[in-house]
Amino acid sequence: MLKIRNLDAGYGKLRVLKNISLHVKAGEIVTMIGANGAGKTTLLHTIIGLVRASAGAIEFQQKEHTGSCAQKIVAAGCTLVPEGRQVFASMTVEENLILGGYMLQRREGKDAVLRELQYQYDLFPVLRERREQYAGTLSGGEQQMLAMGRSLMSRPRLVMMDEPSTGLAPLIVREIFKIITRLRDEGNTVLLVEQNATAALGIADRGYVLEVGKVILQGPAADLLANSDVQRAYLGREKIG
Ligand SMILES: Nc1ncnc2c1ncn2[C@@H]1O[C@H](COP(=O)(O)OP(=O)(O)OP(=O)(O)O)[C@@H](O)[C@H]1O
Ligand SMILES: [Mg+2]
Repeated sequence: MLKIRNLDAGYGKLRVLKNISLHVKAGEIVTMIGANGAGKTTLLHTIIGLVRASAGAIEFQQKEHTGSCAQKIVAAGCTLVPEGRQVFASMTVEENLILGGYMLQRREGKDAVLRELQYQYDLFPVLRERREQYAGTLSGGEQQMLAMGRSLMSRPRLVMMDEPSTGLAPLIVREIFKIITRLRDEGNTVLLVEQNATAALGIADRGYVLEVGKVILQGPAADLLANSDVQRAYLGREKIG
């Protein structure tokens, strides 16, 4: 579904991503783990067309997307749940969700959006309870669910999530990761970027480890969890639940 080959990207003279290759197959949860500043957000922004690649290729759904604008790859079914949620604070929960259904409405009409809205409410019952509430007054966990729901409203083929666990209590992280697993089980495809390696590798099929802009390890999630270098660098200092 997504194929990245020898990707370089950065800001001005700063080269952040160095020769990154990775792929995501339909129906997988693939995680990219890495510490602060490793280049995780830069990678997602390069895939979605917000940062320009200086070398390499990005292929999505068998089509070349290197250097194409964000609208094009989003229209092709790739979506990003951004770091820090970025919900529209002064709009209600339901207004945020309906906004996320904009592309779906253009493609399939209003009834499809209303159906999708119900599906999101089934996935995130707390959003149904709070549908009239301003998004800015939600808790961190609820805002994360709203950000996910808003992205999912377009029925993407690939959903990329940028550190959904940041700042959330372990119990809420577990709930959110359970929902990500359910998404995969219902046929969705997820690229999950995380610092919380334990939680991410716990639900992923495969993983990549990013260190200062380079992929230093990759493989089945279970192998990475058992890898002593990964344990030392990423698993020792954190525990969830
Ligand atoms: N807009 C920008 N202009 C210049 N440099 C940037 C910009 N955004 C990020 N960087 C730099 O690129 C590097 C990678 O940043 P990035 O945000 O991709 O890391 P990250 O892995 O997402 O980190 P975190 O876990 O803290 O979110 C950092 O050194 C950062 O300072
Ligand atoms: Mg980041």
